[in-house]
Amino acid sequence: MGKAMFKLVIGLVVGGGLWFTAKAMGFPPVFQWAFFSYAAVGTVVFLLLDLPSMKPQSGWGAALSVLLFFGLLCVGYGAGASLLPQFDPEDEKGKTAKVLGSAKSGNPLDPWKADEVIQRAKELDQKVKELEARIKALGSGLATVPQPGGAAPVTASVPAPGGASGGDILKVGEEQWQLQECYNCHKLRGDGGKKRGPELDNIGTHLTVDQIKQKIMDPKSYMATGFEKEWEKGRMPDKFKDVMSDGEITALATWLNTFKNTAVDTPIPIKKK
Ligand code: HEC
Repeated sequence: MGKAMFKLVIGLVVGGGLWFTAKAMGFPPVFQWAFFSYAAVGTVVFLLLDLPSMKPQSGWGAALSVLLFFGLLCVGYGAGASLLPQFDPEDEKGKTAKVLGSAKSGNPLDPWKADEVIQRAKELDQKVKELEARIKALGSGLATVPQPGGAAPVTASVPAPGGASGGDILKVGEEQWQLQECYNCHKLRGDGGKKRGPELDNIGTHLTVDQIKQKIMDPKSYMATGFEKEWEKGRMPDKFKDVMSDGEITALATWLNTFKNTAVDTPIPIKKK
C-alpha cells in the first residue's frame, strides 16, 4: 500500500508540474488539463502493474477475457475523449470565413481589397484634378478665351451643359482636356504629347465640333494622316464615351475647335466611318 501511495504522489507531482509548465508557456486551460490527465493515466498504469497477477487462463475463457479487456479500454478511452472539446469541421470553416470576412471589410491594405483601393485612389485623384481645374477657371473668371495663334479672343456661343453661359463651355472643355489626360498623347500649345499622338493646335481647321466629337466618342471614326499604325492598333483609347457625359464631350470638342493655328502641322484626319 505504501508503494501505491508513493506512486500516486509521484503522479500528482509530475501532473502538477506539467500543468504549471503548460500554464507558464501560455497553453490554454484545456491543454493544461490534458497534460495533467496524461500524467494521471500514466499513474494509473503504474498502479495497475502492482496488482496481484491473475490466474493463467486458456481456451475460450482467455479469448473472452482479452476481448472484454479491449472492450473496456475502448469504452474508457472513448468516454474520456468525449469530455475533451470536440473538433467540428463546419465550426472551423465558419471561423475561417469570419476571419477572412473581417479582414476583407476591415483592413484596407488587405490584398483582397487592393483593386478596390487602387480604384478609390484613382477616383480621388480625378476629384483633385477636377477641383484644381475648377479653381483655375474661377481664378481667370472670364467668358472669353484668347484664340490660339494670336487671333482675336472668341466668345463661345454654344449652350453649355447644365445651362451655363457660353464662356463656361470652353472652361469645361479645357478642364476635360486635363481630366481625361488627352495631353498624355497630344501636344497642344507646346505642352504634352509624351506618348506619340498628333499635335492638335490646328485641329479646328480640319474638323468641325461635331466631327471632333465623333472622333472622341469613336476613335476609329477618323484616322490622322501618317498615324495609320497607331489608328490600326487603336492607340487612342475607346473609353471616353463611357467616362464622359455628352455635355462634357461637346464642351471638349467645342474648345478643341477653337484651335486653328495653321502654323502647326496637325495631320489631316481621314474619315473612316
Ligand atoms: C493613349 C494616347 C491617346 C489619348 C489619351 C488620346 N488620344 Fe487622341 N489620338 C491618339 C493617336 C495615336 C491618334 C492618331 C491615330 C488616330 O487618328 O486614331 C489620335 C488622334 C486624335 C485626333 C485626330 C487628330 C488628327 O489630326 O486627325 C483627335 C481630334 C484626338 N485624337 C483627340 C483626342 C482627345 C480630345 C483626347 C482626350 C479626350 C484624346 N485624343 C486622347 C492617341 C491618344
